[in-house]
Amino acid sequence: MAEGKGFGKTILFGEHFVVYGLPGIASGLGNATIANVEKTEKFEFEDNRPEIPGYKEKKRQEIQNQLDSLLEQFKIGKGQDSIKITLEGNLECSSGVGASAALAVSIARALSQMLGRDLSDEEINKIAYIAEEAGTGKGSVSGIDNTCSTFGGFIRFEKNMQGRPNKIERLSIGRPVEIVLASTGITQETKKVVADVRGKKEASPQEFEKIFKEYRETCQKAFESIKTGDWKTVGEQMDKNQELLRQIDVSCPEIEEIVKTAKEAGALGAKLTGTGRGGYVLLLTPSKELQEKVAKKVEELGYKTLKTEIGAKK
Ligand code: MEV
Repeated sequence: MAEGKGFGKTILFGEHFVVYGLPGIASGLGNATIANVEKTEKFEFEDNRPEIPGYKEKKRQEIQNQLDSLLEQFKIGKGQDSIKITLEGNLECSSGVGASAALAVSIARALSQMLGRDLSDEEINKIAYIAEEAGTGKGSVSGIDNTCSTFGGFIRFEKNMQGRPNKIERLSIGRPVEIVLASTGITQETKKVVADVRGKKEASPQEFEKIFKEYRETCQKAFESIKTGDWKTVGEQMDKNQELLRQIDVSCPEIEEIVKTAKEAGALGAKLTGTGRGGYVLLLTPSKELQEKVAKKVEELGYKTLKTEIGAKK
């Protein structure tokens, strides 16, 4: 039996913008997916990950495509002398927390261990990216999710648009910081939302140029503030990022309701994270007390929350 772990992730800055080569900032979460693999007579897959209702059913084909890609990359057949993969862990599957990247990374790590391959983090990351692309379709993911899921901690990420290696800067902070992830309960298809944004960008190039310029400034300021632990400024930049996400039309009424309530309760910053139009809302609450207070207010609206941390490392 071999075991592998893949962190969940949250994007602090840059979902959708990273697809076009702009920088993004993301972090591994304290919550993770664990994969166990063992040799069996024929292929078996048992998915015991916690989920928001309907997630696994909606993602069935995507999960299947990812598994096929991972088996192919490790040259494992589904017939005789195959493997059983069991997934578990405390990362609840939902849009926006990098559940599919955590699946790919955890299985890749477990297979690497089982086969005695001892792959480096960089190699695991590459395999997980290929599996992610197999899941959602070529060109629809930037690689930010699998990078966070592999390395944990904070990363500044820039996709190389010429197909060369992406630029990844890892960043250590003094201690992990409390956040609340509030679930809208809506599962979205990344591929579809990315395609919608692309369509809008093609229809209004000048408007997007302006948004991109503003975003770059926001992201740079946030990055400097994370380095110095200035969470107040990080929160302000998150709010600006949320405004830009509204402008590219990836917010939705549930996200807006959570953002408003969390800000009123004292969250330093509040924005959607990941694909958008559902999924999770990221609320910056850098103390246990604030985290409790904000989560409680959001839960009173009927939304589920995950109290976790950013900056958690491998
Ligand atoms: C999804 O978590 C983030 C997107 O920017 C797509 C990607 O970068 O892979 C929407």
